[in-house]
Amino acid sequence: MKEADQLKKLVGEAAADDIKDGMTVGLGSGSTVYWMVKKLGEKVKEGLQIQGVPTSNTTAEWAREFGVPLTDFSKVQELDLTIDGADEVGENLHLIKGGGGALFREKVVAAAAKELVIIVDGSKLVSHLGEFALPVEVLPFGWEVTAEQISNLGCSPTLRTSQGETYITDNGNYILDCPFGQITDPEVLHSELKSIVGVIETGLFIGMADKIVVGKEDKVEVISK
Ligand code: A5P
Repeated sequence: MKEADQLKKLVGEAAADDIKDGMTVGLGSGSTVYWMVKKLGEKVKEGLQIQGVPTSNTTAEWAREFGVPLTDFSKVQELDLTIDGADEVGENLHLIKGGGGALFREKVVAAAAKELVIIVDGSKLVSHLGEFALPVEVLPFGWEVTAEQISNLGCSPTLRTSQGETYITDNGNYILDCPFGQITDPEVLHSELKSIVGVIETGLFIGMADKIVVGKEDKVEVISK
């Protein structure tokens, strides 16, 4: 296993320890969360009683595979805790997410939780957000217009593809990857993007994370708000 993958496993498994009996938990998406869901499945087999709300179809499949019970927002509207990955963690624990395309559901699930814990390997910590192209979920209808309007904010958006086809999110939308470079004011950029009609949601998670669990050289560090 590559070093970054080992760190993802380390923090993913460590984060599963934050999940206590009786909790309803938002289950994030991505390769770090995979390890958390797998570990959670082991804990459930040992008797832990929890329910998860998945942020993507892939995470729901993992939960079923590992035996983690699932629920949804028709039954519960407040979650005790959400655990998710990130593509970048910057100042004030602001995040870029959506590398895996699940940003919209991730944000809804994060917003419904009393606490948001982010699990990353050390390479995700940055001084300024933006080296990772910002994923923005857009409506397919008129996406070209939306892309043009986003480009006026200072980047050249790329329509995400997967295996030669346009990538479609779990919500049936498209993703524009927006390489802004250094984002000096994430809050302003987020609200400018949100004011564009075809934008559904951005991968900027402003002031949402409460705690970052970071894997660094085979140990786990915690950064809190
Ligand atoms: C999914 O849409 C993303 O927000 C992921 O949380 C993010 O890409 C982190 O993924 P990894 O844990 O695979 O690096």
